[in-house]
Amino acid sequence: MSVSASFDFAPLLPAGLPAPAARWTGLAKYSFVGGNNDPDQVPVGDLIEAVNAVLKREGKTLASYGLTSGPQGYRPLREFLCAKLKRDAAIAAAADDILIVSGSLQALDLVNQTLLARGDTVIVEQETYQGSLNRLNRLGVNTIGIPLDGEGMRMDLLASTLADLKARGIRPKYIYTIPTVQNPTGTIMPESRRTELLRLSEQYGVPVFEDDCYADLIWDGKRPPAIYAMANNGGVIHIGSFSKSIAPALRVGFIVAPWEMMSRMLALKTDAGSGALEQMVLAEYCAPHFTSHVPKLTRGLRAKLDTLMEALNEQFGTSAEFLEPKGGIFLWVKLPDNVDTLKLYQAALAAGVSINPGPEWSTNKGYAGSRLRLCFASPSEQQIREGVGVLADVCRKEFGVPVRIANMERRA
Ligand SMILES: Cc1ncc(COP(=O)(O)O)c(C=O)c1O
Repeated sequence: MSVSASFDFAPLLPAGLPAPAARWTGLAKYSFVGGNNDPDQVPVGDLIEAVNAVLKREGKTLASYGLTSGPQGYRPLREFLCAKLKRDAAIAAAADDILIVSGSLQALDLVNQTLLARGDTVIVEQETYQGSLNRLNRLGVNTIGIPLDGEGMRMDLLASTLADLKARGIRPKYIYTIPTVQNPTGTIMPESRRTELLRLSEQYGVPVFEDDCYADLIWDGKRPPAIYAMANNGGVIHIGSFSKSIAPALRVGFIVAPWEMMSRMLALKTDAGSGALEQMVLAEYCAPHFTSHVPKLTRGLRAKLDTLMEALNEQFGTSAEFLEPKGGIFLWVKLPDNVDTLKLYQAALAAGVSINPGPEWSTNKGYAGSRLRLCFASPSEQQIREGVGVLADVCRKEFGVPVRIANMERRA
């Protein structure tokens, strides 16, 4: 039984709190939102074996905060990451260069707390992760979005923005990029552009903040080296996550950073360590299974993407435009200019379909107004087909498009 609320907390709340959260009302019948993964691809059996093995062997270490590994996280997990980052991203990091955090969201908070004050300026990709934009807004930071093309952040526009800011005496605190399977656009920044980014970073004395959380989910498995690996002045902070490769509810991410930043972030990480059991299970599971799990996962995701693109082509015809993403779990879709995806979001939700409206994922609300992001990882193939059909119906009722439904001319 819930206690009836008669005590008034309102006069006690300090100024500047974020707006109150809404109560969770469950997932929509057809849910294309969030960064959720495919439930059928969580390696439950192997995780059960891992939890049993590691608890039998090392369970008693749970008696100490930080196990026997100290405040940077379970050492075998950091050692797994060293080998993985070397193999996949060409990053030469030692276990002591890595901090395990409670999802890469905590990494965003720690980097921001270390570097940002109200009124500062940061550079981001024009379309970017809503969680990052929300944090920057809340911190009162001036956020400048650089447009993207099929190869990620445009370096010509970054160069002119940096020059313009310098002329105005402004030194941005960082350039935040999701270079390897960008969220939401799904592009991969090629190596030549990464080199140019580092050149600009060095020229203007602005560090790069590299968010690589989708880097494991690439259809052909090929990726350029991480920007962190290519830098030779230590001016890059790299973050990653197990949310997309294993499971987001585990809440395990990591930061790779030079000690100057690491020591500051450690001083700000006041939770006495991230959940140890998750770290132990991941280390135990990943060492033998990660490299065989990921290609299976991406094959399944690729099949779902194909289903989504087919369904959009069938249901929306030429009204839905999109570039095929190079990996990941999202499709970024452009609808005709008259469609307002914030309104579409409301109407679709009432019909049981949840989508992410574009303006929430962009610093350019006008540009993103007729765009939306669809997560194809968590719905089943049947839900994808049905959900896109319902979305097309709602969109036609609200905005008159698509005119053609399921490749049939609609008769009035
Ligand atoms: C670009 C990006 N960074 C960070 C996160 C946060 O992920 P997590 O805290 O689960 O690691 C997400 C989640 O969707 C994301 O898309």
